[in-house]
Amino acid sequence: MAKIFGNLHLVLLIGLLLAIIVMMWFVDSAPVDVNSVMHWLHTFFGVLWIGLLYYLNFVQVPTMPSVPAELKKGVTGYIAPKVFFYFRYAALLTVVLGLGIAGQQHYLVPALTFSGAGNLNMIGVGMWLGIVMFLNVWLLIWPNQKKILGIVEATDEEKAKATPIALAASRTNLALSLPMLYCMVSANLS
Ligand code: HEM
Repeated sequence: MAKIFGNLHLVLLIGLLLAIIVMMWFVDSAPVDVNSVMHWLHTFFGVLWIGLLYYLNFVQVPTMPSVPAELKKGVTGYIAPKVFFYFRYAALLTVVLGLGIAGQQHYLVPALTFSGAGNLNMIGVGMWLGIVMFLNVWLLIWPNQKKILGIVEATDEEKAKATPIALAASRTNLALSLPMLYCMVSANLS
């Protein structure tokens, strides 16, 4: 048992096989096609992205001040780089799949230009909120976190400047995630 549960990739593979069994089991009432698989993968990577955003905002950032100085390296040197790896690539895949869903359903341009009606504009609002959150991750949070975590060379002054920028961008994404998620689960376009 320990061999199975100790192997992350094996557990993910088992999960994937179970998902395929469920897809086959309900294929008559829920056809398996590009759209349904993209919705599923979009939600998976969206959960991973937002899950790590909530971990950072609810757990790591509020707790770090109370972590003894000699132990901080355990978070900044080992845990945080791994968090930001999955965080930024889950954000990328969530956006790519989200744009893919809208493109495949032929409402990408009307949704992003608000030239549709009703829930098409709602998913448009959700998509723009998600895109702003994505840009915050790749243009503000990650470049500044690289300085803070010492992944790239930075003076103490540069690190001191980077910290409030990274915090503001991360907290902005926390706030935007609430209306974004409401739009995502309420649009019901397919
Ligand atoms: C963290 C960010 C995001 C999360 C957690 C998320 C989550 C979701 C969820 C749960 C759904 C409903 C799935 C369903 O109805 O089967 C959804 C639908 C959708 N999402 Fe996202 N989403 C995110 C960001 C984005 C972004 C950035 C875009 C595009 C730029 C996007 C585009 C879409 C589209 C087009 C749909 C389909 C709407 C529908 O069929 O009703 N999403 N998303």
